[in-house]
Amino acid sequence: MSSTLFRTKPVEQSIADTEEPEHALRKSLSALDLTVFGVGVVIGTGIFVLTGTVAKNNAGPATALAFVVAGVVCALAALCYAEFASTVPVAGSAYTFSYASLGELPAWIIGWDLVLEFALGTAVVAVGWSGYIRSLLDNAGWHMPAALGGRDGADGFGFDILAAALVLVITGILVVGMKLSARVTSVVVAVKVAVVLVVIIAGAFFVKAGNYDPFIPKSQPVEAGGGLHSPLIQLLVGWAPANFGVMGVFTAASIVFFAFIGFDIVATAAEETRNPQRDMPRGILASLFICTVLYVAVSIVVTGMQKYSELSVDAPLADAFKATGHPFFSGVISFGAAVGLTTVCMILLLGQTRVFFAMSRDGLLPRFFSRVHPRFKTPHRPTVLLGVVIAVVAGFTSLSELAELVNIGTLFAFVVVAISVIILRRSRPDLPRAFRTPWVPVLPVVSVCASLWLMLNLPAETWVRFGIWMAIGFVVYFLYGRTHSRLARGEETPSTSS
Ligand code: ALA
Repeated sequence: MSSTLFRTKPVEQSIADTEEPEHALRKSLSALDLTVFGVGVVIGTGIFVLTGTVAKNNAGPATALAFVVAGVVCALAALCYAEFASTVPVAGSAYTFSYASLGELPAWIIGWDLVLEFALGTAVVAVGWSGYIRSLLDNAGWHMPAALGGRDGADGFGFDILAAALVLVITGILVVGMKLSARVTSVVVAVKVAVVLVVIIAGAFFVKAGNYDPFIPKSQPVEAGGGLHSPLIQLLVGWAPANFGVMGVFTAASIVFFAFIGFDIVATAAEETRNPQRDMPRGILASLFICTVLYVAVSIVVTGMQKYSELSVDAPLADAFKATGHPFFSGVISFGAAVGLTTVCMILLLGQTRVFFAMSRDGLLPRFFSRVHPRFKTPHRPTVLLGVVIAVVAGFTSLSELAELVNIGTLFAFVVVAISVIILRRSRPDLPRAFRTPWVPVLPVVSVCASLWLMLNLPAETWVRFGIWMAIGFVVYFLYGRTHSRLARGEETPSTSS
């Protein structure tokens, strides 16, 4: 039985699958498109919303250090992702990579995990977007009824109608095609980056040195009864739960990690890339580098403009300008944030449908979902199904409950990818690799340790929720995927069945 659970899908077969006409996606993206894609999804709720939250609750001005820590963890993972993406250029990201190296069960686990990351990530960002839109509407004197403003603002029934509507509109755009969405994305990404630069450049004039003192606030004990809300590491080693201090920087890093989520999605578009061997590593590393520099600059400026304890947690970048008496900049930033979050949602949803598509093409999920649209050449069925489900989740869910769950899922994917690099180097040393991860196996091992460290800094309850989601995944695999897998059925490629 263990041999079937760890059967691997040959890399050549993965590539051949993408060439079956009715299951083929259009190859149209360049390295620049991928970088725009990466920046488009990476800059979002993390920098626009979470910066204020963690500066206020966990790290003070040292939030900039938290971004550096999270950025380093992501860079290590990116170097592993880049090797895989340039070796196995097919849709599916870590899912596909692990199918080629670790085997079917680990691939299923990682695919299931990515569904969690992308679907909940889309929902989280849609809810954040809706908050910014409501704040703009409030400025214009138009107030949404509380029951339609999401669960957080309502007593009893609450449905975030704006978040749900955004997800449905984006679903429509993705069904119509990659080309349209990439073009829309470029414009919106330009607006978003411009707004971030406004924060950095204009904000620099309002920085007061006194706000940086202390740079790392002294550790403060949190009230008893934190229980499952405490980082797992504190419970495991019996430390008294505390905020701020050096450990606060790591807690903050495990939360602002959300700000980096998405660069791995660049890898999911490998199959739609003209020259994946060359462009994929460039796209991934360039987008990650640009974002890290911008995040560190933004957090240094914002914590210098306003005392960390006074930062707003809803719209910290815009509100820091309001607090310094510049409402015009504040309005521009709110508008840009709302526009920018749209692309984040769009690309997360795109990554999500592509993983689902790849799993269905392999027979681990019903193959009904892997037929591309005859005219648009997009996987319209999983796009519509997932779009509707995510719209409902976004409507009924509170932002903070889900962001940490998204982080743990993503970090877990990083661990699997780093291990896969080592295994694939040994099992398939012959494969051409356009990009080779340096210092294997040391770098992937360090990457695994760094990702695990951030995971341990997440709350214990997040671990419990993650465990439940993965347990459901096991049930689905053993009841469906294991017997329907194309590998299990010995189907040859190219295949005419569906
Ligand atoms: N990195 C993305 C964000 O911060 C998901 O919204």
